[in-house]
Amino acid sequence: MEFLDRWLAETGSVPNDRPLVTLSYAQTLDGSISLRRDQPLAVSGEQSQILAHKLRAKHDAILVGIRTVLADDPQLNVRLADGENPQVVILDSNLRLPLSSKLLKAKKKPWIFCTSSVPSENSVTLGKAGARIEKQAGVSGQVDLHKMLRRLKDLGIRGLMVEGGGQVIAAFLGNSLVDRLMLTISPRMIDGYKIPLDLKQPLPLMGVRVEHVGEDIVILGKFH
Ligand SMILES: NC(=O)c1ccc[n+]([C@@H]2O[C@H](COP(=O)([O-])OP(=O)(O)OC[C@H]3O[C@@H](n4cnc5c(N)ncnc54)[C@H](OP(=O)(O)O)[C@@H]3O)[C@@H](O)[C@H]2O)c1
Repeated sequence: MEFLDRWLAETGSVPNDRPLVTLSYAQTLDGSISLRRDQPLAVSGEQSQILAHKLRAKHDAILVGIRTVLADDPQLNVRLADGENPQVVILDSNLRLPLSSKLLKAKKKPWIFCTSSVPSENSVTLGKAGARIEKQAGVSGQVDLHKMLRRLKDLGIRGLMVEGGGQVIAAFLGNSLVDRLMLTISPRMIDGYKIPLDLKQPLPLMGVRVEHVGEDIVILGKFH
């Protein structure tokens, strides 16, 4: 897996106005990222999961949408590789994060981006549980990704890894906010939940490399 360090070094230039965004997710041959929207599935194999943890360790922060947290109750830490746990960032416009979630039990508490219209009792409760609440004026009731990225930069985040789920991946790609991509393809079809992509323009991937990791195929490249 030495290719990962080489690729990261080659594609590591950080934009001026926001963190460098790396999108990483796993899909099956038919483009499914889980069985059903609220039903998780370990899409990638053991070796690719190790690779994803190595990638986590190379980023300052890791971001997911609230529906992934509700569906998977993930830890989003570095368990299968050496390195520090990244700061977890959750897009949760209405502060739906359950107090029982594993992310609130971790030592490093999550940062939650929500819209300014959330009831203050929700932010007080999650704040007491240790989460950092970042309220912002939203766009169509959801977190404004451009503003959020600027804020993350001000908070010292230089490298951000976006892990999902489908709606968040679609939003980052649709807003051309992905600098580089590590896509893991598992050689099977499940006809499950797919990314609800809505691109305004084609996004050609450049500098493409293809690697075999266990049974999976890993595609690496950059958009900018
Ligand atoms: N295969 C993989 O690599 C992988 C990785 C991660 C997840 N998954 C799977 O993905 C599925 C969950 O994906 P999902 O599409 O249902 O949800 P998601 O992308 O995890 O979360 C979407 C939610 O994030 C919130 N959000 C806030 N601001 C947003 C913005 N600007 N753009 C987009 N979302 C914003 C919205 O909820 P509010 O309006 O309430 O804020 C939105 O409904 C699960 O099945 C999970 O297992 C797969």
